[in-house]
Amino acid sequence: MSDKATLEVNGEKHEFPIVVGTEKEVAIDIKTLRSVTGGVTTIDAGYKNTGSCESEITFLDGEKGILRYRGYSIEELAEKADFLEVAYLLIFGELPTKEQHDKFHADIKSKSVVDDDVRKIIDAFPKTAHPMGVLSSLTSALTAFNPSSVNVDSEADMYNSVVKILGKFPVLVAWTMRKKQGLPLDYGSNSLGYVENVLKMMFKQPNEDYVQNKIIVDALDKLLILHADHEQNCSTSTVRIVGSSHAGLFASLSAGISALWGPLHGGANQAVLEMLEAIKEDGGDTKKYMAKAKDKNDPFRLMGFGHRVYKNFDPRAKIIKKAADEVLADLGVEDPILEIAKGLEQEALNDPYFVKRKLYPNVDFYSGIIYRAMGIPTDMFTVMFALGRLPGWIAQWREMRLRKEPIGRPRQLYVGETFRAFKTIDKR
Ligand code: ACO
Repeated sequence: MSDKATLEVNGEKHEFPIVVGTEKEVAIDIKTLRSVTGGVTTIDAGYKNTGSCESEITFLDGEKGILRYRGYSIEELAEKADFLEVAYLLIFGELPTKEQHDKFHADIKSKSVVDDDVRKIIDAFPKTAHPMGVLSSLTSALTAFNPSSVNVDSEADMYNSVVKILGKFPVLVAWTMRKKQGLPLDYGSNSLGYVENVLKMMFKQPNEDYVQNKIIVDALDKLLILHADHEQNCSTSTVRIVGSSHAGLFASLSAGISALWGPLHGGANQAVLEMLEAIKEDGGDTKKYMAKAKDKNDPFRLMGFGHRVYKNFDPRAKIIKKAADEVLADLGVEDPILEIAKGLEQEALNDPYFVKRKLYPNVDFYSGIIYRAMGIPTDMFTVMFALGRLPGWIAQWREMRLRKEPIGRPRQLYVGETFRAFKTIDKR
């Protein structure tokens, strides 16, 4: 293959280097486009064709349904690693040794106490507030309680801020749920594993001991791993772009949480469950909802289906579907929603509309069913996604700062009014 791409603009030919990634992906480097063409820009709404960075963290091939973190397959990581190992891998590039893993966990635990004044902020939220809004606000507020800024040139400073947020974030996650349920806030216990501690902080009743259920611990561990990174998606790009202005880590994460909230992104897991509930309430007629999803005059979309990058089965959905079957069976839960989900999936996979557009179930189609079986309220599903995605956001923010990337600032094509003379208000 040629190592240059040629573009002709206004009769003049310009050459741009072709760069090839380690997985043989090809990109045209248009860094010099505006300078050599006298200001010509590109238009690519939704960045469907635009790479925003070079990254060593996550590889995904949407055509083949491949997802790897730092070279390791998602299937193997979900099966054999724990969430903290995966977090360490994503952030620092290698799987930890036993000593590194234990030190990482101990450092996280040592930073897990959240300033008691944060409770006052939580108290100010109404119980009706959506947990994602609360989580985003609390994450941003952490900056005020940890004011010293991170010196990104100091590995020790970087490490400190990483363990700090990994320690405090699960506390905020649990508190958003407890606040809504009117439960006293819980600090968890340093004697527990990371995921066990999350569950204890969420579910411990004030008048009962919390007994861990291994099935639930393992299922949550797996779900968090599957959500841990997904290269330059909407929330991750948001974290990188906010961080590129040298806003701090917590502020960048808070923006990422807001981006994740939307139903076209992380909010889809809540939307899927609500959709399945609505179908059940409406008599379980999946065909009716399939027809609605295909009707261009109907805004209804089959939530949990389709993906910007996967044009094949989302590998995470395959793992989650199997996990949903196992968890429900192990917990002895019979959920009619699971049957509706399976029915919809079968119909969609055989329907020409979905086949033609390569719309397959995505990661969120089955995750909500597992969360529900664990007793997690529907409006907390996206918060659980944020907890899983946290290491990915941190890794991407750290990579962006270490690579000294320039501030993110896209161009536009102006299509508004040309110059107009101002008219005073009495003349309009
Ligand atoms: N139901 C029905 N039709 C769909 C769906 C769906 N879920 N998803 C896409 N389509 C159709 C579109 O109407 C469009 O049809 P057309 O070509 O006739 O106009 C075609 O498929 C392509 O869809 P786009 O919206 O252009 O694809 P895009 O890549 O922009 O969007 C997205 C991807 C947002 C995920 C979309 O598939 C969607 O809205 N899915 C439902 C929400 C969802 O599950 N989001 C979670 C994504 S995973 C994650 O973020 C963790």
